[in-house]
Amino acid sequence: MTLRQVMNNEITIRPSKLDDLKEMQKLFVDTITTICKADYSTEQINVWTSSIENTQRWTDKLTSQYFLVAELGNQIVGYASLENNNYLDFLYVHSDYQRQGIADKLYDEIEKEAIKRKATALHSDVSKTAKPFFEKKGFRTIAPQINIIQGVEIINYKMARQL
Ligand SMILES: CC(C)(COP(=O)(O)OP(=O)(O)OC[C@H]1O[C@@H](n2cnc3c(N)ncnc32)[C@H](O)[C@@H]1OP(=O)(O)O)[C@@H](O)C(=O)NCCC(=O)NCCS
Repeated sequence: MTLRQVMNNEITIRPSKLDDLKEMQKLFVDTITTICKADYSTEQINVWTSSIENTQRWTDKLTSQYFLVAELGNQIVGYASLENNNYLDFLYVHSDYQRQGIADKLYDEIEKEAIKRKATALHSDVSKTAKPFFEKKGFRTIAPQINIIQGVEIINYKMARQL
């Protein structure tokens, strides 16, 4: 077995709790700042990460969406969420654990839940950084989109996949 397989066996997936919020937000900021810096400017990253200041929005999402965290020991190493039955909202993996198959594991559970909820397609708004992962999962790009947040342009891609 490779080290990646050994680690992968030890990762557990569980529903997130409100108590996870701080650790999830820390991972969010750290991953965007380190992993997405190849694709986005410092100004864009600052605007993107500033979304953590809206605690109410995060709390609402945590309570209303199908939210899963991946844990290694008692550390959160990634998370993903499904809004309604067919929109993948969050997908973030800890910067120290990239390319270990964690997003794959989380995505599989989200897809299973979407199918259980009778969705016929899965949609997402995907960062430049995450686009190769989604392409690997069979998503196609519907359109690039320019979001203007706090006066700053941030490009991402509307993507979808039939289930
Ligand atoms: C996108 C992201 C979630 C992928 O997480 P991950 O756990 O590293 O992905 P996995 O290890 O499960 O990757 C599975 C497969 O997807 C593909 N893939 C993943 N990242 C890739 C990359 N950067 N470039 C090319 N292919 C990639 C590969 O085929 C990979 O399999 P392999 O490692 O055996 O080649 C992670 O890079 C991340 O957190 N990115 C920053 C946050 C972000 O932009 N989130 C999305 C917001 S919309």
